[in-house]
Amino acid sequence: MLFQVVTIFPELIDAFARVGLVAKSVEAGILRFEALSPRAFTSDKHNSVDDAPFGGGSGMVMLPEPLALTMEAHDRSAAAAGLSRSLRVLLTPQGRVFTQADARRLAALPGLMLICGRYEGVDERVHALVDEQISIGDFVLNGGEVAAMALIEAVSRLLPGMLGNAQSLDEESHAAGLLEYPHYTRPRSFRGHDVPAVLLSGNHAAVARWRRKQALLRTRAQRPDLFAQLALDATDRALLAEAEDEA
Ligand code: ADE
Repeated sequence: MLFQVVTIFPELIDAFARVGLVAKSVEAGILRFEALSPRAFTSDKHNSVDDAPFGGGSGMVMLPEPLALTMEAHDRSAAAAGLSRSLRVLLTPQGRVFTQADARRLAALPGLMLICGRYEGVDERVHALVDEQISIGDFVLNGGEVAAMALIEAVSRLLPGMLGNAQSLDEESHAAGLLEYPHYTRPRSFRGHDVPAVLLSGNHAAVARWRRKQALLRTRAQRPDLFAQLALDATDRALLAEAEDEA
């Protein structure tokens, strides 16, 4: 999958692409990164990428022209690689909040263009040049770069070949609208806290039931918003009733 990033800090994306599982996937040809700076597409002597807002007020606004030219350069690069034009996503706190469902949807695409704003924001007319606006949460970053990296990580780990164990993708938090069950490893007793006995029992059916129950309880306690959206079946309701009896 091709990730094309528009950023005044391409070195951030280059560094990200050189570390860990992302680097391995680049080497394996699963991921490809292109980071271009709008500064390279300016024509004034200061290479300006921003200016003061019309109407006054604090902060600077990113100029539309260098951003548009950078997106178009990415389009030409995708075309040269025989790919269709990448979906254009603007990272902004004003976008729709990113979810695991978005990660799955975007992971099916051959390429994705991520446009990172800085300063107070981008000129409003840039919105007409992008396909979507995405936020990674209800908080404000200094720019879209960290948000773009978060999105890239969430999307790229879903690609075939990225993770050794495909089953862990199905079981992890948010895969089915549930938080994940608790995990334990050695030692069996850690500072007075023991691993739940069922996990040492070797009874796979009992382990599966326990994990499902814990995932349900944890989601209800920590994310009532997600819990409210679950379609519980008879088994789930029985597991929850069992938990009430145990309490
Ligand atoms: N840029 C600044 N804040 C952001 C956020 N929360 N999500 C995406 N892009 C951003």
